[in-house]
Amino acid sequence: MKISSIRDQLKRNNADLLIIPFFENKIPEAASEMDDIERDIKWPIELGDFKAKEGETLLIYTQGKKENRIILLGLGIEKKLNAESLRVSFASAIKEAQKLKVKKINILFPKKCKMHNLAKIVLEGIYLPNYLFNHLKKDSLKDLDRSLVEEVQIVGEEIDKKIIEKVDVVVTAVHMVRDLVNNNADEETPQRLAEVAKEMEQLSPFLKVTVLNKEQIINEKMDLLLSVNRGSFREPTFSILQYMPTKSEDITVLIGKGITYDTGGLSLKIGEGRGGMNTMKSDMSGAAAVLGVMYSLAKLNINKNVIALIPATENAIGSRSYKPGDVYSSHSGKTVEVMNTDAEGRLILADAISYAVKFKPSRIIDIASLTGAIVVSLGEEIAGLFSNDKQIVETLKKASDECGELLWEMPLFKEYKKLLKSDIADIKNTSGGREGSSIVAALFLQEFVNGISWAHLDIGGTSYYSKPKGYYTTLATGYGTRLLLDFIEKL
Ligand code: BES
Ligand code: ZN
Repeated sequence: MKISSIRDQLKRNNADLLIIPFFENKIPEAASEMDDIERDIKWPIELGDFKAKEGETLLIYTQGKKENRIILLGLGIEKKLNAESLRVSFASAIKEAQKLKVKKINILFPKKCKMHNLAKIVLEGIYLPNYLFNHLKKDSLKDLDRSLVEEVQIVGEEIDKKIIEKVDVVVTAVHMVRDLVNNNADEETPQRLAEVAKEMEQLSPFLKVTVLNKEQIINEKMDLLLSVNRGSFREPTFSILQYMPTKSEDITVLIGKGITYDTGGLSLKIGEGRGGMNTMKSDMSGAAAVLGVMYSLAKLNINKNVIALIPATENAIGSRSYKPGDVYSSHSGKTVEVMNTDAEGRLILADAISYAVKFKPSRIIDIASLTGAIVVSLGEEIAGLFSNDKQIVETLKKASDECGELLWEMPLFKEYKKLLKSDIADIKNTSGGREGSSIVAALFLQEFVNGISWAHLDIGGTSYYSKPKGYYTTLATGYGTRLLLDFIEKL
């Protein structure tokens, strides 16, 4: 999407559509100035057909203006406005534009909103929903749907080019993440994730990417990653992306769960429904989000040292599958009794976390669609945050408040550790019960962090919705990319 801006509204481009934002409590006055169109929009407002409720839209037609269509957009009550409601309101106007299949739109800038980072937030609201996933449909059917907006001019305010560029990079990353998650699992394989990582090396001289193949993974003794991989004909990969632009010793390690398809293994999943196998191409959304962060860091030249680790494999089922009840060793040397082969995410993360220790990082953050239980606890719009470090929690909460990707801190009380005690190995991978199982999963991971500052984001709900919502126009949300980027910038 091409974005430009112009201060003088009378000099704006011709376009297919003009979007004018209003506050519910200020109507008929718009949230921006609009000299030449005042008369066209008076009627629907006087008739009471448009009340400017949050996200409300009304399409009207005009003649002889720079645009023949106008969408009146409601922003709700001015006092209740916040960054996220503004994004969601603009998203609803963009989705209307997509249905009209207009390519070029003008948007009056809502100057009268008193908000920090107003331009960035408005641009995100416009840009984030401008994403479709329809390349798997026949062309004839695609045509019935909606189409992407191609060009936007912001009218009434000159917007700093740097802000436009930054939103462009970050939303491009989010859309790349959504593609990786939405695409077929047979497409987005461990090999493909490694390729995407490797290609990123071109983005910055500070980014070095190493991909470990199966043999190298064997040499590194990442036996948990290897055991999860056993049922799959595709070999595992382990990508290491080192973005080191500064001499500072501060290093953040990001780890993303890269299960490119989760059948559950021999502890086979059910077919359909929430958490059913048919949604499990999304089980690499942690890995995708981390790739999105690395893309953004490199493109934006951000001055922070970050190392990303992506353990990737399918959790398939086959005659060579790893087995419930057997004990496997790990990169850390600890042995794990695998009670349930569907609790595989924590196994590959455990190897990655203990591998991360060698970089002597200041902090480790892992992001993973780890449990279905987190959806039971928090619903699909809020991620679970588990951490042993108050500072990380505070910074992540701040980043979350600003970017609108919601999270909630969950407890890591040691009382539940006993649920992971094994009679025959150092630790079990599940408790065998459903109670508190997101916490139990996080406690399992904590066994491998070696006292380093660490946080774990469980995105089992937030990474892949059951239906499109707000600026998430498809099931894959891209959750985590904006959150973690904001987090790193705050360090
Ligand atoms: N990929 C799933 C977690 C998941 C489930 C994400 C539903 C999104 C929606 C993970 O690998 C898994 O299967 N976890 C099990 C763990 C259980 C066996 C202890 C779960 O949550 O049911
Ligand atoms: Zn699983």
